[in-house]
Amino acid sequence: MKLPPLKTQLAILETRPWTKGEYAKQNWGVWMHSISAYVGRIKPSFAHFLIEIFSAQGNTILDPFSGVGTIPLEADNMGRIAIANDLNPYANIITKSKFDRRGLSNELIYLESIKDLDLKAETNHVPEWVKEFYHEKTLQEILAIRKRLLADGRDFLLGCLLGIVHGHRSTHLSMRTGYIIPYIPNPKPIAEYREVLPRLISKAKRMYSDKVPDTTNGTVIFGDARSLKLEDRSVDVVISSPPYYHTLDYVHSNRLRLWFAGVDFENQYLLADNLIQQRNTYLSAMKEVGKELKRVMKDNALCIFILGDVHLSAKNTLNTAQDISDLYKDLGFTTHAIVDDEIPASKTTIVKYGGENAIKNKKQKLDRILVMSKNVS
Ligand SMILES: C[S@@+](CC[C@H](N)C(=O)[O-])C[C@H]1O[C@@H](n2cnc3c(N)ncnc32)[C@H](O)[C@@H]1O
Repeated sequence: MKLPPLKTQLAILETRPWTKGEYAKQNWGVWMHSISAYVGRIKPSFAHFLIEIFSAQGNTILDPFSGVGTIPLEADNMGRIAIANDLNPYANIITKSKFDRRGLSNELIYLESIKDLDLKAETNHVPEWVKEFYHEKTLQEILAIRKRLLADGRDFLLGCLLGIVHGHRSTHLSMRTGYIIPYIPNPKPIAEYREVLPRLISKAKRMYSDKVPDTTNGTVIFGDARSLKLEDRSVDVVISSPPYYHTLDYVHSNRLRLWFAGVDFENQYLLADNLIQQRNTYLSAMKEVGKELKRVMKDNALCIFILGDVHLSAKNTLNTAQDISDLYKDLGFTTHAIVDDEIPASKTTIVKYGGENAIKNKKQKLDRILVMSKNVS
């Protein structure tokens, strides 16, 4: 398949097809996209159209900041060769789970095989702030099943477990709390016993409600976008939603799931320092990313970034897309367009589902799609 000229691609982009009809729905797309929650996850339909407009079948698409893998999963389903990269261990586990396709019957047979597992795991080592969310027996079961899934390399089921580990529905394992961001409600409810295995089975079944291909061409990397584990000139297109300045905290918001992913509180602090999410170091860190992208991209390859404005005060707004465009010009990239994509504040995931950052993020309403290409070097 040959791609249309850039002018035509940009004209289609301007029509913002992901905002129309069915595609406007937050949950458009296969269930696999919803294995687990993540702050800053992009809409699957948005990912779908960026991939459709800017890449061809068989192209290698890199997302250097892949989060829970929305862009790579959609790219994989569309016949592209997807590469997902992220430095957050929880995001990495969820992306790996989306690419661990063995089919539902295989997963159900495995779950049947562990039903007689001794579920009385030790909880002495569990910090109080984690214990607070659970009935003791539920916590024991989660820990026992998690240990077994890790030992058996069952990435898909581990992702499903992390997906239900907290939330506000009876399908979730914690006391009633946020599905995206965990918090202790006031007044604090009693954490009831929630049997884990039946809920895990239901979750796995839900994820397989649609027909997803059993095989994938995807690669999932745990790594820093500033030093990608990829060959020079190996990437056809970069499509990504990088962090923007200090808007979201990918560690604190995910603290409970990160703990179950094996990152304790102390290491969560170290992780927060390593991720690109501090305002004062943002541009220098993104410059390092730009150099690395230039190395792995083919000549003339496109780089599509989704970046939002950050409102510091009524009169002070940071236009992240423009800042990155200026920065990358010096690195050997050409900007072709910056297309605005307005999102009603009420539709941002955070505001919809609540959580401690809801108010802060209510101001973040404008995404911009930055379209660049790597100059011939
Ligand atoms: C806006 S989120 C991406 C969300 C993703 N598009 C999705 O739908 O889930 C930005 C991501 O950048 C990751 N990140 C921050 N600094 C990074 C770095 N130095 N290297 C790789 N990933 C990084 C964060 O962990 C976060 O997952």
